[in-house]
Amino acid sequence: MKSYKNIILIGFMGSGKTSVGKKLSMKLKREFIDMDDFLEKREKMSITDMFATIGEAGFRALEADLCKRFDAPKDKIIATGGGVIKSPSNMANLKKGGVVIYLKSTPAAIAFNLQYDNTRPLLQVEDKEAKIAELMEQREPLYKKYADITIDVSELELDDTVDLIIKKLK
Ligand code: S3P
Repeated sequence: MKSYKNIILIGFMGSGKTSVGKKLSMKLKREFIDMDDFLEKREKMSITDMFATIGEAGFRALEADLCKRFDAPKDKIIATGGGVIKSPSNMANLKKGGVVIYLKSTPAAIAFNLQYDNTRPLLQVEDKEAKIAELMEQREPLYKKYADITIDVSELELDDTVDLIIKKLK
């Protein structure tokens, strides 16, 4: 049976990759994998604890290794971690088997979504929105560079985002 390209969701923390991926998976009846959840279950440790024990570099190595497993079209929907675009080889692997969808948002919308969140080690700082804006400035060019399709989700409801993705994929 023919396999279709994976749908790879990229974008900043708090842009909705996991929620969008779950809903897409229900609508398209395709398997959903959240890379961070996958690593947390396999390592039996939260992302926060991974950053604390093996450091960001250790976490990035696990993330890179996982990207190598998704280098062929297998009908999957994959939500990546927001920093996956920092490594060109991660993106080369993911792009081999998938179409990359960038969920674009604004620092203000992301700061709102993550206002009570304490699961993102990179955002455990006093001024969350400033940190988001700083990281976004570094990363935005990379999200754009790797995106096959960009969806501005800053003012969209979840269902509208999912419907728009399905429409754009046709
Ligand atoms: C990170 C994003 C997180 C997680 C880790 C690092 C990043 O994933 O991989 O905390 O560097 O942007 P989400 O984008 O799912 O929050």
